[in-house]
Amino acid sequence: MHLKLSKSKNLKGQVTIPGDKSISHRSIILSSLAEGTSEISGFLKGEDCLATLNSFKKMGVKIEEEDEKISVHGVGLHGLKKPTENLYLGNSGTSMRLLAGLLSGQKFSTILTGDSSLSSRPMKRILEPLKEMGASITASTNTAPLSIKPSNKLNGISYELPIASAQVKSCILLAGLYADSNTQVIESYLTRDHTEKMFKKFGIEIDENYKDSKKIIKISPPRKLNPSTLNIPGDFSSASFFIVAGLIIPNSEITLKNVGINSSRTALIKVLTQMGANIKIKNIKDDYEKTADIEIKTSNLKAIVLDEELIPNLIDELPILFIAASFARGKTIIRGVEELRTKESDRLEAMSNSLRVLGVESKSYSDGIDITGKSSLKSSVIIDSFGDHRIAMASSIACSMLDGENIIKNVENIQTSFPNFIETCGSLGIRAESF
Ligand code: S3P
Repeated sequence: MHLKLSKSKNLKGQVTIPGDKSISHRSIILSSLAEGTSEISGFLKGEDCLATLNSFKKMGVKIEEEDEKISVHGVGLHGLKKPTENLYLGNSGTSMRLLAGLLSGQKFSTILTGDSSLSSRPMKRILEPLKEMGASITASTNTAPLSIKPSNKLNGISYELPIASAQVKSCILLAGLYADSNTQVIESYLTRDHTEKMFKKFGIEIDENYKDSKKIIKISPPRKLNPSTLNIPGDFSSASFFIVAGLIIPNSEITLKNVGINSSRTALIKVLTQMGANIKIKNIKDDYEKTADIEIKTSNLKAIVLDEELIPNLIDELPILFIAASFARGKTIIRGVEELRTKESDRLEAMSNSLRVLGVESKSYSDGIDITGKSSLKSSVIIDSFGDHRIAMASSIACSMLDGENIIKNVENIQTSFPNFIETCGSLGIRAESF
């Protein structure tokens, strides 16, 4: 499937953004381990989260889907059953890394597989700490498929994350549920804390302390998890495409309703505000996760030097930040983003390709990029999304600023995180059509 985009006039109106991908994964995982039934509303029915959901079905968890509600009949910490086939996790790195931790603590073997993109993503980052805990997990060339066998026992470890990764942190904490002693993860850069929040929601005691600008997260293996009722907020990462669209498309004024604004996810707002963006956060609500409505008006953006400290908190928003920089006055300088090369595609490479095709002046480095905004843009362009949902959506927003008929190729993967992206574009006034 491809997308066709033409120039959008002005964006108006308000939309609700679909559920948060990270929180949706975690909601299924913890509900499945609880003793009793959990009710989830706002679950993201994108392919990635459905891969997690289907894996638990295959491990004997009864999950009922009715309209917008999902009921998960948890089987308890030790109630999962051996699946009769390999667990196929499609494109989803989160499913693979989080499940690897959890499954390392089970009394049965599993094999985790994925599509070609997932099969080339680095897994050493989870294999090392899991093996240190005593897990029996193997992967040739440190990539999927992952083969997990029952181990005699898992021991708790204290592990300082060598890279800023919420997936690695969450993998270790999930394995820690099955360890025979306490598990501690130390972060020098704060990554998204949805796992910590979700653990609390299901009654797991978790200690979060800060020392010498590091975060220390400690759990002791719980006896049981209580079921819960969860409302999943809109995904800030999905909202980010429309935040930037509202800023760069002339005469726009839009509102995105009920978006998650967890501070470990929203550094993009800080950065865009530094760039001169007119963004207002209204109606803040605080449940286990904070949500708000986000109001955006067209703004004259100016270039910035990106503060590297903020990178873990806008890691998934970098592709769309590159587009914001393309429409800002001056040269934006971005360094320290080499993690982009390990995502669903090499996003640094994929985005510099998009910028080149769009006619945006940029210079790539091994760990970053310089982007000179307001270059003379091309029209009627054809961009390859490299099968990566965020490259497809970020490039779409850029194309809605161009004359002519513009094409984004291979956009099927938008289904992984934002199944109704095209409809949402349409209801705000972005002229996108699939073919
Ligand atoms: C995620 C963490 C991030 C992010 C991914 C989702 C999560 O990955 O890029 O989309 O749900 O924990 P890393 O932790 O590998 O940076």
